[in-house]
Amino acid sequence: MYDFTADPAQAKPDLYRDLLGAADALTQGEPDAVANMANVAALIWQLVPDLNWAGFYRMVEGGLVLGPFCGKPACIRIAVGQGVCGAAAESGQTQLVEDVHAFPGHIACDAESRSELVVPVVRDGAVIAVIDLDSPVKGRFDAEDQAGVEALATLLSSRI
Ligand code: SME
Repeated sequence: MYDFTADPAQAKPDLYRDLLGAADALTQGEPDAVANMANVAALIWQLVPDLNWAGFYRMVEGGLVLGPFCGKPACIRIAVGQGVCGAAAESGQTQLVEDVHAFPGHIACDAESRSELVVPVVRDGAVIAVIDLDSPVKGRFDAEDQAGVEALATLLSSRI
């Protein structure tokens, strides 16, 4: 049994340090990418407050395909360059979107989403997946969330 509990009073850098440690412990030595993405999606969902979707899209034959996640059922395939996830996959750069309604081409999988953070997972110079966090709160994500999820993406680059 794994029991990771969130502390609502915790500062974000501490929260992401705990998240990274838990993700490291859960994925270390496990070669199955699906199992690792599933556990990390569940960890994000459990530890990061104010989310309505958290999970992965994987790069498969030149396009993004839905991976393990928590939240409502979502769009299955996203073209590179399309929406926030596709922009992250195309540029290799994190996309921090304060207001999804102001992002041209945003794909509304869940009408509740107001802000979004998408971080590419890069291996050998290529984007192999993106980590996508959605929130119903406008402006939910900041530089500390970005740094925390980017550290997670670095950890996972050789484990998914
Ligand atoms: N909003 C994303 C699509 C994925 S869902 O949020 C799960 C986008 O614009 O790429």
